[in-house]
Amino acid sequence: MTITEVGRTARIEIDGREGTIKLPVESASDGSIGLDVATLFPKNGILAVEPGFNSVGIRSRITYINPIGDGKEATLQYRGYPIAELAERSEPIETAYLLLFGELPTSTQLADFKTAISDETVAHPEIAVLARHLPSNWHPMGRLGCLVSSLASLLPVTGDTAIEQFDRTAIRILAQMPILSAWTHASKAGLSMPEPSGSRGYVENYLAMIAEDGDTVVDPLRVRIMNAILLLHADHEQNASTTTVRGIRSTAAGLYSAISGGIDALSGPLHGGANERVIAMLRQIVEDGTSPQDFVSRAESSKLKEDRLMGFGHRIYKAYDPRATIMRELCRDFFAANGTTDPLLQTALELERLALSTPYFVDHKLYPNVDFYSGILMKAMGIPTDEFTVIFALGRTAGWLAHAREMQLDPDTKIVRPRQMYLGELNREFVPIEERSE
Ligand code: SDX
Repeated sequence: MTITEVGRTARIEIDGREGTIKLPVESASDGSIGLDVATLFPKNGILAVEPGFNSVGIRSRITYINPIGDGKEATLQYRGYPIAELAERSEPIETAYLLLFGELPTSTQLADFKTAISDETVAHPEIAVLARHLPSNWHPMGRLGCLVSSLASLLPVTGDTAIEQFDRTAIRILAQMPILSAWTHASKAGLSMPEPSGSRGYVENYLAMIAEDGDTVVDPLRVRIMNAILLLHADHEQNASTTTVRGIRSTAAGLYSAISGGIDALSGPLHGGANERVIAMLRQIVEDGTSPQDFVSRAESSKLKEDRLMGFGHRIYKAYDPRATIMRELCRDFFAANGTTDPLLQTALELERLALSTPYFVDHKLYPNVDFYSGILMKAMGIPTDEFTVIFALGRTAGWLAHAREMQLDPDTKIVRPRQMYLGELNREFVPIEERSE
């Protein structure tokens, strides 16, 4: 699937090397350009080398991020639709359809999609038994990954063609995620596994299943807020967990394994686990009586990753993460509707004000990311702190599945196998241990 503008070529000349290397130039939807480096190593033996894939990418049509900085708003679009409009007017299942199939569904398509998900919204007793017997001190993200992986044992892939098999399995995963997320909650608390109900909405099911009093009537404000939280987390192009999912699927491993791998990658504190760390940071500031200014100053001066202002900074965004803007306003809506406030929110707003008036953060283009306010909102919704990233995974499953489907349909898909530039020793002779000097 190579889109090369006829005639646009990049020419590389290397000192001391004969000839010019020519690489096709491609244009992205926003006019930015990319070099097709597919022939760089096979034909020329030259590697594009850099850690973290910050300058090497793939082609995709799912999510667009414009990280624009210098005072201009960053942009996040799912299949070309701005995230703010989707958060306001769509719902997680409709957005999951958009991410997976590329278009907003008609009312018939959405009804059929919801019916297919509802039909798969069933409790599997063997997995309930597994959930009840997970190690007592296992982090919820480890529990969730284990339960998703175990689906492969029960829900064999069915369907005639590869894409039918994919779509059937994807619908099963979407349907099971709220159940397994709620069972993650119950298994950690040593409770019996709550029953899902196909008659409840997607988010309602999850909220009803984690309700402590078993109250299945869910407050519409909590549904609206959780809908937005899942939708805002649904996709974010080639982030670490999505890249993990793509890597696992590229080996033709099962979709359940790929999603389980994405869950494990997301659990890292520099990725999806940051929301949990933001709450710990805010709590420490409030409980220790640390001045936000002192905290910002330490985050500025320290080179230790643990001293960083969690929830700030992003590999892509060099401006305010559009999701953080929406999350901050949802926080304000939630507390206003409940006539309450939260010292963590006040502290977060003060940290943001101080950081964004500190040259270090402005010069490094460090702004609030999706995690800076999401934890405050989830905590206010009664979600246990160590389950925030479970909610992140519940939302991100739609994006992971969409990227896996894009690979499924791409004839250029190959097994992921990065190369390396070897810097170590060469051709060394083995030294018997008795001859090795201490
Ligand atoms: C997510 O990729 C995605 O899209 C992810 C995500 C998604 O939806 O999937 O958006 C979700 O993961 C959001 C990010 C959540 N993580 C955090 O909030 C953790 C805190 N943030 C950082 O650790 C950091 O900003 C990263 C990991 C998010 C990005 O790191 P980079 O791009 O690898 O940048 P870096 O670590 O090389 O830092 C560059 C500079 C360094 O300073 P210098 O050595 O150049 O002087 O910026 C500094 C860093 O010290 N820096 C920070 C900082 N983040 C970066 N300094 C203080 N506080 C911070 N938060």
